[in-house]
Amino acid sequence: MPEARVVIDLDVPGPTISRHLYGHFAEHLGRCIYGGFYVGEDSGIPNERGIRLDVVEALRALNIPNLRWPGGCFADEYHWKDGIGPKADRPSMVNTHWGNVEENNHFGTHEFMALCELLGAAPYVNGNVGSGTVREMSEWVEYLTRDGDSPMVRLRKANGRDEPWQVPFWGIGNEAWGCGGNQRAEAYADLARQYATFLKDHGDNKLYRIAAGASNDDLAWTEALLKAVSCLGCGRDPKNIFQAISVHYYTIAGTWENKGSATEFGIDDYYRTMAKAQDIERIIRAHSALMDAYDPERKIGLVLDEWGTWWDVEPGTNPGFLYQQNAMRDALVASLHFDVFHRHAERLVMANIAQTVNVLQAMLLTSEDGGLVRTPTYHVFEMNKGHQDAAALPVHVLDMPSCSVDDTEISLLSASASVKDGRALVSLSNLDAETALDVVLDLRGESSWESSGRLLTASKPQAYNSAAAPDAVAPVPLTVEPEPRGLRVSLPPHSFATVSLVL
Ligand code: AHR
Repeated sequence: MPEARVVIDLDVPGPTISRHLYGHFAEHLGRCIYGGFYVGEDSGIPNERGIRLDVVEALRALNIPNLRWPGGCFADEYHWKDGIGPKADRPSMVNTHWGNVEENNHFGTHEFMALCELLGAAPYVNGNVGSGTVREMSEWVEYLTRDGDSPMVRLRKANGRDEPWQVPFWGIGNEAWGCGGNQRAEAYADLARQYATFLKDHGDNKLYRIAAGASNDDLAWTEALLKAVSCLGCGRDPKNIFQAISVHYYTIAGTWENKGSATEFGIDDYYRTMAKAQDIERIIRAHSALMDAYDPERKIGLVLDEWGTWWDVEPGTNPGFLYQQNAMRDALVASLHFDVFHRHAERLVMANIAQTVNVLQAMLLTSEDGGLVRTPTYHVFEMNKGHQDAAALPVHVLDMPSCSVDDTEISLLSASASVKDGRALVSLSNLDAETALDVVLDLRGESSWESSGRLLTASKPQAYNSAAAPDAVAPVPLTVEPEPRGLRVSLPPHSFATVSLVL
């Protein structure tokens, strides 16, 4: 069996892996909100204020740090005042981006805040720049976060909420180069400055303003935003206007028109997916390097607030609803993204998978009869949650197995590690579709530990969970054997594993 050696320096803690790298995204899209998170108070499905309790319970096990809402593209046509007050009085709208369906606004600001409270997640509200106004977004901040007395505070109180909420994260529009208004970079950069100026800190609620960033490796977009708040070598403090710049990157293994099936794919498709997923490292590195030039002290954060796999919708479902299955292959896309995130934790401060329930690379798939399935991706988030707010450790892979995909050489072992409170967590992904891999963990800097392991794999990379087989892909214990300088584990093909160490 092939063998690789993974050297980990347990006594060299690096940058903190922000828990916000494990963030989520919930858009008014398909069955993410309606039928996913929210079924309404009158539903037969157990709920609190209309929010599905089985969904909340499943997600609480992931320690979700923040939840981005209401979009996505939807954010730039959403008018928040339509989503407050008695539900019967809330006006409807057409969700033009996602299926042209009618949106009744029954899930609005108060419902979102109740959801965040149930999940224990910090709210990340994405405002409307594309079709909204500065005043509208500024009043939303006031409505949510101001204490005392003011027009928006009185409106909030009239709607049943006396105390302000803490809402730290604010997005200044979404994909402004596309569905957010087809804007030019320089024009949007000026708008972002203007909006940011009127998004105020009220009381002790300190805003973290996130400018809508680039798609993939569009460095010109990022540079325009950097130039709007800084200049090369001028010493101007860049973080006074907006505090972060976002970027979006989806793993699309096929073409935009023909993305491929989530569950019916061949081995070439599998490896092409791994190559596309690994490209996230080049993209984060490129944006980070540019940001280092304008902002060497790393005051501005990079936020990957949309990432994940994007396949053709499941046959027979609404093409505008982006409902897709989720296989063992998706789990590996997630696990290798996290390894990249951990390596870039100094600049990358937040990431949000798209999306949490029933849309794209979801954690949970629900059905109208009350069914709920945890996807393979869910298990990666759960197995990896010990990395949240831990210190990244240096990891070096020796004898890296690799293969070539088209003209690109890709690594077949992905790894990262962290330490927190006397416990280390090691994540390992064997990306080889067909061959098992022995991994020796060469542990340096400590001489004793207690170890345990968990393994996520399946009979084939196409395996997925469904109502009929909800645990076809679920974690099981992994045997961890001692080695003279560390530990040895055997990773089956297409598998993800974690090894926990009590130091
Ligand atoms: O996540 C689905 C969509 O993908 C989002 O609405 C948009 O921001 C992106 O293009």
